[in-house]
Amino acid sequence: MRAAHVLTPCADDPVGALRVGDLDAPAAPPGWVDVDVRAGALNMHDLWTLRGVGTAPHDGPRVIGSDAAGVAGGRDVIVYPVLPTAPNGRTVPHATLLPDVGYGVLAERIVVPAAHLVPKPAGLSWAEAASLPTAWLTAYRMLFTRAAVAPGQVVLVQGAGGGVATAALSLAVAAGATVMVTSRSPAKRERALALGAAVALDSGARTPELADIVVETVGPATFAHSTRATRAGGTIVVCGGTSGFTADLDLPRLFAREISVRGATMGTLDEFVALVGFVDTHRVRPAVDSVVDLADIRVQAGRMLAGAGFGKLCVSLT
Ligand SMILES: NC(=O)c1ccc[n+]([C@@H]2O[C@H](COP(=O)([O-])OP(=O)(O)OC[C@H]3O[C@@H](n4cnc5c(N)ncnc54)[C@H](OP(=O)(O)O)[C@@H]3O)[C@@H](O)[C@H]2O)c1
Repeated sequence: MRAAHVLTPCADDPVGALRVGDLDAPAAPPGWVDVDVRAGALNMHDLWTLRGVGTAPHDGPRVIGSDAAGVAGGRDVIVYPVLPTAPNGRTVPHATLLPDVGYGVLAERIVVPAAHLVPKPAGLSWAEAASLPTAWLTAYRMLFTRAAVAPGQVVLVQGAGGGVATAALSLAVAAGATVMVTSRSPAKRERALALGAAVALDSGARTPELADIVVETVGPATFAHSTRATRAGGTIVVCGGTSGFTADLDLPRLFAREISVRGATMGTLDEFVALVGFVDTHRVRPAVDSVVDLADIRVQAGRMLAGAGFGKLCVSLT
């Protein structure tokens, strides 16, 4: 079967470490099932895997990828990729993903725990469905679980083009919030307005009003701005740091305004089921930057590395 995989990780050239080739299809452990993948999507997590960060050393090729939608037992499904427990029963930290334990999903045939299959809404394309498991689940948990977004609230989304950011924008709009976004790119700001943002600003620009909730995925490049843009009693939710992992904190502003800073990572299976239901009910269509054949996945990885995309960078396996 064709599979996107890494043989030798490379910290300096993650795209160069990415290969597509024929590998043996994996055998399903007890309680796991086969899925014929129709589409997948890339995440920053995949670039870290290609760099050799966050996965245990391994011999031989390792399939990458956490996001997939396909057909299992005749049903159209989306794969929930978070493993609370490794296949051998060993307990692993929260938010271990299928590729972290050798079961990446960017391949024609994959195996996943039977309980991790969620029906694909008929209104979503394969690529749109494959966009949901990582970035959209994270954005859902950030907004609904960690920040309890409510209709009428003001949400600021930093770095509008990213997978989590476009998901947060669409989910917050559907939840009835007024959404402001920032982006360094005028073209991305235009696309964010088309997705329902009320305001689209250059990165770091003064916001017209303070936000109840700030969705932070960028890190040090935007964190000071996030703090300035949060109203008293508001919440900054952080799930990553594309520009780095250490940010200065404006402590007087945090304590004087009683701002909460909350972390978020992926989400539970119940949250994933709720996300898929929310997307279906509200007829939200995930922003897909582009879809290429699996053979051309390096193009998508390069776009992700350059921060060039708007929405999810997807691959087709049909
Ligand atoms: N904790 C979790 O469970 C979880 C899940 C998913 C993702 N993440 C993390 O969340 C982060 C976002 O991932 P993603 O895949 O959604 O998006 P991404 O491709 O990493 O890009 C996000 C955005 O960051 C902005 N950006 C990058 N460098 C910047 C800089 N120097 N200054 C200002 N803006 C900058 C860009 O915005 P503009 O070009 O629009 O300015 C870009 O669109 C990553 O760090 C990822 O590892 C965490």
